[in-house]
Amino acid sequence: MSDRNRQPAPEENVEAQVARAAERLRAGGLVAFPTETVYGLGALALSEAAVQRVFRVKGRPGHNPLIVHVSGESMARGLARDWPSEASRLARVMWPGPLTIVVPRADVVPALVTAGGPNVALRCPDHPLTLALLYVLNQPLVGPSANKSGNVSPTSAAHVRDEFGPFDETDPDSVMVLETRERLRVGVESTVVSLVEFCDAGRASAGREPRALVLRRGMVTPGEIASALGIDGSRVEVLDGASADPSKPLDSPGRLSRHYAPRTPVALLTRDALMSRLAREKSPVVVLGASLEVLECAGPHRVISMPIDPDEYGAALYSALREADRQSASAILVEWPVVHAEDLTATQQAKWSAIGDRLVRAATPA
Ligand code: TXA
Ligand code: MG
Repeated sequence: MSDRNRQPAPEENVEAQVARAAERLRAGGLVAFPTETVYGLGALALSEAAVQRVFRVKGRPGHNPLIVHVSGESMARGLARDWPSEASRLARVMWPGPLTIVVPRADVVPALVTAGGPNVALRCPDHPLTLALLYVLNQPLVGPSANKSGNVSPTSAAHVRDEFGPFDETDPDSVMVLETRERLRVGVESTVVSLVEFCDAGRASAGREPRALVLRRGMVTPGEIASALGIDGSRVEVLDGASADPSKPLDSPGRLSRHYAPRTPVALLTRDALMSRLAREKSPVVVLGASLEVLECAGPHRVISMPIDPDEYGAALYSALREADRQSASAILVEWPVVHAEDLTATQQAKWSAIGDRLVRAATPA
């Protein structure tokens, strides 16, 4: 076979891939891009028509705003009406990385992006292909996770194609995928933190020391945010689904409980409860477990082995849930990760909380 006819391997020709992706985006199309967290469904953030296409193709409700991906702090500043020094501090410590910063929206950002809200969510992703794309474009990209609304987030190019089908250049709604062979480093979506209380408008209405509000947990922990900001941990507040007031409008609709869910019902069980359920279970189920006892369970069941380190667990989670879903079993039983508070650092506990948040969402019935 001549070399010319060979299908280029992922990342074989980064420049060519990035150039094609940029062209597709400039024409108002969609390109799924890898990040260190999950694949994003990219479109030009400043083009209303392109953003509209993202909502339509993803089946995303119009009240759920999109994260805008930037090449760095200077691009972020251009999209914010107010960029407090605290935002600079976080950006300098955490970017590129899995932290999304919410600040007041500048007028250049279409209201559609923020679901009509006054604030915009900004993040600089840590992946060489996508950073190259952002540099080449020199424009920001919206990037919700590249899955149909409500499904498990994708952590590989193959996952994205499972969601949207193969790329068809002639169909303007078709999704081009930037290929990467390597596993995404973090694997769960970014931490979303609002710095609105540090902005002029927020300061006036807060009437007390401004706080950073964590709207979605992730692998950047509240403690890490506090230390990057040089403030006391008590001034970083986590607005969990549990503490959210359901009668209020959604601050961050990613807090809707059902999200990231496989089609097969998911149950979360402690090791002992899981072992006794397995002893009773006659039809085959899929088990995601980490303890030896669970991994050695006998019977007709399919066992997927999960890591015991929270970073590794996070990186493996979505691909394990997708694999579990493909088995067409009657249930996916997840061993609730063994978290002995006394032997864990605050950072490890916070990472397990982020993972727990995703597991609970996956297990919440529609
Ligand atoms: O890691 C990630 O954040 C990935 C990658 C692709 O960057 N993106 C991602 O996007 O998870 P998405 O759309 O699946 O989740 C975005 C989250 C939602 O919870 C949304 O409500 C929240 O960010 N969000 C977006 N804009 C916001 C805003 N202006 N104010 C508050 N929350 C916002
Ligand atoms: Mg999502």
